[in-house]
Amino acid sequence: MSDKNRIIIFDTTMRDGEQSPGASMSLEEKIQISRVFDELGVDVIEAGFPIASPGDFESVTEVSKVLKKSIPCGLARANKKDIDACHEALKHAKRFRIHTFISTSPLHMKHKLNKSPEQVLEAIKESVSYAKKFTDDVEWSCEDGTRTDMDYMCRTVELAIKSGATTINIPDTVGYSVPSEFKEIIETLINKVPNIDKAILSTHCHNDLGLAVANSLAGVMAGARQVECTINGIGERAGNAALEEIVMAMKTRKDLMPFTTGINTKLISKASKVVSNATGFPVQYNKAIVGKNAFAHESGIHQDGMLKNRETYEIMTPESVGVKKTSLVMGKHSGRHAFKDKLGDLGYVGVTDDVIESAFGKFKILADKKKHVYDEDIAALVDDSLIKEESLIKLKSLKVIAGTGEPQTAEMTLEVFGEIKTGKETGDGPVDAIFKCIKKLYAHEVNLQLYQVHAVTEGTDAQATVSVRIEEKGKTTVGQAANTDTLVASAEAYLNALNKLIIKRKRKAPDESLSASA
Ligand code: KIV
Ligand code: ZN
Repeated sequence: MSDKNRIIIFDTTMRDGEQSPGASMSLEEKIQISRVFDELGVDVIEAGFPIASPGDFESVTEVSKVLKKSIPCGLARANKKDIDACHEALKHAKRFRIHTFISTSPLHMKHKLNKSPEQVLEAIKESVSYAKKFTDDVEWSCEDGTRTDMDYMCRTVELAIKSGATTINIPDTVGYSVPSEFKEIIETLINKVPNIDKAILSTHCHNDLGLAVANSLAGVMAGARQVECTINGIGERAGNAALEEIVMAMKTRKDLMPFTTGINTKLISKASKVVSNATGFPVQYNKAIVGKNAFAHESGIHQDGMLKNRETYEIMTPESVGVKKTSLVMGKHSGRHAFKDKLGDLGYVGVTDDVIESAFGKFKILADKKKHVYDEDIAALVDDSLIKEESLIKLKSLKVIAGTGEPQTAEMTLEVFGEIKTGKETGDGPVDAIFKCIKKLYAHEVNLQLYQVHAVTEGTDAQATVSVRIEEKGKTTVGQAANTDTLVASAEAYLNALNKLIIKRKRKAPDESLSASA
């Protein structure tokens, strides 16, 4: 990595990320995540804290065995036992990193470690040089770095590098810093630590004030060349800097941040899903880059602009992070342009302007009642308008003989594509006779999946609503009709489903990428 603008991506999803309360992952899940991260192009994967538990130890070992390109790493406090465990867990890997840390802020040194600054310096020297016996790749972190006295931090960093650390990580452990301050810390280290050129400076920012990504980027702009982050920004408390946000910010704003990473951004969405599934932590809908709505446009003005030129409202393409297609969420803010475009996606070609107008009117009424109008709702509205416009099959008259003694018989007249046809059929009950008669006058083979009668009002003169669902080669349609005569409603509901099916047969297969997006 000789390129001076190449940023090392150090992922700590399985270590710091797992420290999110409730985010524990099984060994199998960690292995699956590691394979995805390896493919994603993560440079260093911190797989756990081996001394913490036998489970963590095993995960670090197993993860280190499956990685092909990424460097496995384990965390250790500044003592021999931790470092030995780290080495034991990682020793099967061809290359590995030991990451050792100690607190350097006055608050932590006094209350957490009960050590003087001089004793902490001694621990740094001992731990880093001990880790160096096992690997050339030693990272040292000053925990609570952003609340550490700057002159003292310079001394610790100089000593860690002298003792063998090749990466110096500056954690904003409690997410307290702001970009200008974090930038200054990195700049001061670069300007004041005499041997700083022998190590790579790294950022490790927590998100307690929502500034983790901004602070990390400020650190990079000041000269840090490694960023520690997690997928979906998971981590202790409010989490860590989100990998996907850092990588995409640098990629999208190359004009201001001319840095590169080894990340194949097209796999970001996959990595996000795999982590969310393993941890059980859902990704917030409006989460940058990987949220369900990150590439969804609902406002009519935005949808119109997007259809004219994506760049009007899109600063990066969904495809660039592995999401198939921008989704235009149809809702009350959607306009005619988006509606027409959606019809094309749903496979309606050559639909007349009259049908579009009528369906769009019904869509607006529906969208006022329903938050999201799904593709199926839109298809049903268009089908309805099409049935009205095209003269398909219409019921002209129906006579039914039912009751005891005689076979139940249906006699009917239908208009089939403009032609008047009359027929008679018997059946196992009046409804069966009706459906058979329709089949006789318009030959077709469908499976009747559902026949249901509901009374709309009370009493024997109540309107009956009949629902019928039919299926042909995997395509299903539902027809409905209401009438005080249940048998007339049955015939009309069946014809309604059949007419929809005839329209559906003419439609092209919908674009599946739409439903798979985001
Ligand atoms: O936030 C922190 O300080 C850490 C260190 C162990 C690097 O996670
Ligand atoms: Zn941390």
